[in-house]
Amino acid sequence: MQSILCIVTSVYLCSSSMIFDESTKVSLLHKKAAPDVRLHQSLKSHDIISLNIGGELILTTRRTLTRIPKSTLAIMFKDTWESRLPKDRNGNIFLDCNPILFRHLLDQLQLSDTKQFYPPLEPSQVEPFKRMLRKLGLLKLIVLLEKNIVRINIGGQTFTHHRSTLTQMSNATVHLNSSSSHPRDNDVFIDSDPKLLEHLVEQLRELPMKNTSYLKTPSSKQANSFKKILNDLRVNQRTHSSLNINYNTTWVQNGSTIAGGIGKGEGLSQLNWPESVCVDDDQQTIYISDSDNHRIIEWKFDAYRGRIVAGGNGQGNRVDQLDYPTDVTVSKQNDSLVICDCRNRRVVQWHRQDNTNGHTIIFDIDCFGLAMDNNDDLYVSDLMKNEVRRWKIGDTKGVLVAGGNGEGNQLNQLYLPTAIFLDQNQSIYISDEKNHRVVKWIKYAKEGIVVAGGNDQGENSTQLSYPRGVIVDHFDNVYVADSRNNRVMRWSKDATEGSLVLGGNGQGKQSNQFHYPKGLAFDRQGNIYVADWDNNRVQKFDVNIN
Ligand SMILES: *[C@@H]1O[C@H](CO)[C@@H](O)[C@H](O)[C@H]1NC(C)=O
Ligand SMILES: *[C@@H]1O[C@H](CO)[C@@H](O)[C@H](O)[C@H]1NC(C)=O
Ligand SMILES: *[C@@H]1O[C@H](CO)[C@@H](O)[C@H](O)[C@H]1NC(C)=O
Ligand SMILES: *[C@@H]1O[C@H](CO)[C@@H](O)[C@H](O)[C@H]1NC(C)=O
Ligand SMILES: *[C@@H]1O[C@H](CO)[C@@H](O)[C@H](O)[C@H]1NC(C)=O
Ligand SMILES: *[C@@H]1O[C@H](CO)[C@@H](O)[C@H](O)[C@H]1NC(C)=O
Ligand SMILES: *[C@@H]1O[C@H](CO)[C@@H](O)[C@H](O)[C@H]1NC(C)=O
Ligand SMILES: *[C@@H]1O[C@H](CO)[C@@H](O)[C@H](O)[C@H]1NC(C)=O
Repeated sequence: MQSILCIVTSVYLCSSSMIFDESTKVSLLHKKAAPDVRLHQSLKSHDIISLNIGGELILTTRRTLTRIPKSTLAIMFKDTWESRLPKDRNGNIFLDCNPILFRHLLDQLQLSDTKQFYPPLEPSQVEPFKRMLRKLGLLKLIVLLEKNIVRINIGGQTFTHHRSTLTQMSNATVHLNSSSSHPRDNDVFIDSDPKLLEHLVEQLRELPMKNTSYLKTPSSKQANSFKKILNDLRVNQRTHSSLNINYNTTWVQNGSTIAGGIGKGEGLSQLNWPESVCVDDDQQTIYISDSDNHRIIEWKFDAYRGRIVAGGNGQGNRVDQLDYPTDVTVSKQNDSLVICDCRNRRVVQWHRQDNTNGHTIIFDIDCFGLAMDNNDDLYVSDLMKNEVRRWKIGDTKGVLVAGGNGEGNQLNQLYLPTAIFLDQNQSIYISDEKNHRVVKWIKYAKEGIVVAGGNDQGENSTQLSYPRGVIVDHFDNVYVADSRNNRVMRWSKDATEGSLVLGGNGQGKQSNQFHYPKGLAFDRQGNIYVADWDNNRVQKFDVNIN
């Protein structure tokens, strides 16, 4: 018993020099004499625990503290040891840890199914945070996500930033070799004044439209040094308004997980069968149809958790609920989101500012996919009627723009139209799912043109298997999430077969694999976002700059 107490003693001293020995803990856990690590009868997971962390009072629940089974932290609060932990004068359990780091930890432990931790952004805090995790017996059980963190050593001073802060500008791309998974390889050295980088990053964070024409040079004296930093970070100039990609563009094959990917669940870092993803470059945000959580999640480019912006009040058909939303798009005019609330058979609009509930704009429709043109006219696919209609605000009927000739595989028919994409000329591209093809209906056309697949279900390059998300570049190349083949294919104009763009490495959860990719989106730089449905994550694939 004495040695157990000794462990506990060394553990609560976050800042002590005593290092907790993992192997001792393991052997103790397996000894019969060791106390039962299951929750003691009198302890409840929703108990509120008041902690004095380095002098600051922090309240949390036992559930949060015991989130990672087998960790020392969990063991401390799972049984009668608790009574032996040191307490302050007011009876609060005292842990000598840095309260800011401890809060950063609790924030993440509050999410169910935590398997990864994000390090704090302040570079000087990353090591202390790791030390704290080690002392609490968490580090070996948890993956510390460092690969999306870029360290920049500038003039001898180190800065740590989320990669996306540096890579998401509407007409510039900071290209830091991104494929490496070893955090150390992310280090970039720039021989310049550290203040200039701060100046740059501050601007990148604050500017509403992050195009580099907005970048302010600190002073004329430093203008050249500032340009050098942009150059060292390889800020590539791109035109902001056009997707600068073509048939020769390739993408880094290993994607980075920008949302979810830590198991199915309803925590704010988790997703549950995401069907679609939509990028809003102006807001530096993506919107995800977190379908089986019955909510829409807004995820800032560099965030490690999302924010519920529609639904999230359980499955149901009240005005504040959604039931398996399958698609979402942004209406700039009214600063709102338009959502296909699939199982409620309605299209709803939720304001982005006042988002306590939505209102129905189209009733009684088996909608699945949505697209909006510059006039805010809405295009909606209908799974049961096998058609796509265009709706002006206030329309009660909508105008037929594709299909509507019953279920079938003729050129004027559709068979389960799901995702849709609208180009500048209001031609509409439709994933005609059960025909395993993508069809294009030019404005006013009476029938479609097959632009991908259409050679039965299969996995050779002429075929698709349950095509989903579809997006088109300015050269009319069609990109399609070939969901059951776990790949993204590109079909150029008039091609008879597609070429592999992403995935194609079998079903799985590696960074170059998918498990039923469903939603697709481009951002302004042409990076591709994939709603990787059964991996419960959104992957981002960077354009290959070279
Ligand atoms: C990373 O950048 C360095 C120079 O900055 C270059 O030599 C190296 O080839 C790059 N690596 C990759 C994988 O792009
Ligand atoms: C980029 O900046 C320029 C200059 O301020 C502005 O005119 C343009 O609209 C911006 N582009 C975007 C996409 O915000
Ligand atoms: C940003 O884009 C605008 C418009 O395409 C261009 O004029 C400007 O030079 C670009 N700025 C930078 C720093 O890339
Ligand atoms: C693609 O590359 C080929 C060969 O380098 C070139 O001839 C062609 O013009 C390129 N296509 C586009 C759209 O840039
Ligand atoms: C935006 O709001 C105005 C005023 O409430 C309304 O008349 C208009 O139809 C709305 N437009 C959209 C796209 O919802
Ligand atoms: C749109 O129409 C114009 C004129 O008909 C044509 O030149 C252009 O290629 C079309 N663009 C697309 C994306 O179809
Ligand atoms: C691919 O599938 C099509 C349609 O079934 C078939 O005609 C073609 O021969 C197949 N090609 C290959 C290379 O297997
Ligand atoms: C990409 O991911 C695969 C599968 O995890 C891995 O084997 C490969 O080394 C990765 N490639 C790079 C360049 O990181």
